[in-house]
Amino acid sequence: MNQNVHNLVDLEDLSKEELKQLLDTAIAYQEGAAVPKLKRDVKVANLFFENSTRTVTSFQTAEHRLGLSRFDVNINGSSVKKGESLADTVKTVQAIGMDLTVIRHSETGWYKALEGDSNIHLSLVNAGDGAGVHPSQTLLDLMTIQKEFGDFSGLKIAIVGDLSHSRVAKSDAKIFKELGMQVYFAGPKEWWSEELAEYGQFEEIDNLLDQVDVLMCLRVQLERLEESGRDNFTADAYHEDYGLTKARAKRMKDTAIIMHPAPVNRGVEIDSELVDGAQSRIFNQMANGVYARMAILTRVLQEQGLMEEK
Ligand code: CP
Repeated sequence: MNQNVHNLVDLEDLSKEELKQLLDTAIAYQEGAAVPKLKRDVKVANLFFENSTRTVTSFQTAEHRLGLSRFDVNINGSSVKKGESLADTVKTVQAIGMDLTVIRHSETGWYKALEGDSNIHLSLVNAGDGAGVHPSQTLLDLMTIQKEFGDFSGLKIAIVGDLSHSRVAKSDAKIFKELGMQVYFAGPKEWWSEELAEYGQFEEIDNLLDQVDVLMCLRVQLERLEESGRDNFTADAYHEDYGLTKARAKRMKDTAIIMHPAPVNRGVEIDSELVDGAQSRIFNQMANGVYARMAILTRVLQEQGLMEEK
């Protein structure tokens, strides 16, 4: 059994106090706090088995700002294409000298087997696992909400769209509820996942618009429509029935904000003009992602004894 406690794979593993510390660190970095010194050269391998723009680029930026030596493995040109397993890929980068690895992989819970492997002792950071969780996205979403409202307790949020495929919905809703937010879900009823029922109730989007402080649209996973038997999907009908149209946005409170983990299908889950509009925080979320990821890496490195505490 790998007793390495220096992974960060699910925010659920942290206490409320630890989560608060992570958020404080992220905000402090954004406000210009100095980066603590590394105790030696520290190497990180980025292994992205699924596509990414935001997560990979902001982890790379975070690693650069923290002074890490960074190695981006080109998965398409790697021995994964010859059938090498995830565990052997991780053991390989470890043998080459990596201290930590940031992984995005389509397998839900990919980290569980690795955490149980006594031959793996580098730190694991989860950059998204299948339909599991997306901890760094959740942290940047929390940061975006905290910067806007100062606190979480009592805020109402609607998470709208492709709930059954979304690791963001699951990851966020769990933590939002823990922090005292009132969580609602909306979208096509057939895309609802009972798994989410413990975190909030399902409602028609039109019943939520004037209630919520945050409206979070989810990307319609167009690439998965066929495999999930949604052949009758049309972008226009979705936009009309469940999308954040300009007419729906007019019914939101003036103080409410619009979020989206992105990438965005403009004109499908949200009107294109609203993406760039005054209530949108979508690009702020992306900017916050760098600091959220710096905070995650700082926590892992300090726990590993590789970075000074202050
Ligand atoms: N939100 C998010 O995870 O975006 P990427 O897939 O581009 O990393």
